[in-house]
Amino acid sequence: MELHLKQGYYKDIRACDEIARGSVLHERYFSGSYRTEDYIRSYFPDDGRGRLYFAMTPRDEKAGLMVISRNGFTNEFHYLALLCVKNEFRGQGVGAWMLKQFEQMGREDGKRKASLTVSDFNVRAFEFYKKNGYYEVGMIPDALVDGIGEHLMLKDLT
Ligand SMILES: CC(C)(COP(=O)(O)OP(=O)(O)OC[C@H]1O[C@@H](n2cnc3c(N)ncnc32)[C@H](O)[C@@H]1OP(=O)(O)O)[C@@H](O)C(=O)NCCC(=O)NCCS
Repeated sequence: MELHLKQGYYKDIRACDEIARGSVLHERYFSGSYRTEDYIRSYFPDDGRGRLYFAMTPRDEKAGLMVISRNGFTNEFHYLALLCVKNEFRGQGVGAWMLKQFEQMGREDGKRKASLTVSDFNVRAFEFYKKNGYYEVGMIPDALVDGIGEHLMLKDLT
């Protein structure tokens, strides 16, 4: 599928919950009073570090989203704060394509590594990141929520 990247703005935040719905991530983090849009909003108002992007199909549908925190890891590497592909588009290469866009931004900004975290219960996503060249450097217990660990993963961009 031919995709293009579109910058998301504050007005687009509301559309994000629909993309995340139907995933373990949504179930565990965003199905209560704290919503997908609350998490994404925490990266806005944009102070130049947080960025929302959508993967757009040729029919101008939003197939997926990512939130990138520039220099978000130790003020050094870009950090992928959220990656989500809409249910009907999963398993078709959209996630891998978005990861490439994220990595390309890092390279263009002269970064040696890309970083992200993935929850311990999200086994499919963990495997997906490994398949795309990310390696685990550690586990952060009780990171965002008590009882849920986050695998910290990096990829070399050089
Ligand atoms: C994880 C995710 C971003 C991968 O994007 P994608 O477009 O489905 O992935 P691709 O098509 O590029 O790659 C397919 C691989 O993704 C992985 N995958 C993870 N969850 C998947 C799902 N629900 N459906 C299909 N593939 C999934 C599999 O490893 C699959 O490889 P396989 O076909 O060999 O099993 C996407 O499935 C998603 O949004 N999941 C829900 C939200 C989430 O967990 N995000 C990650 C938070 S850290």
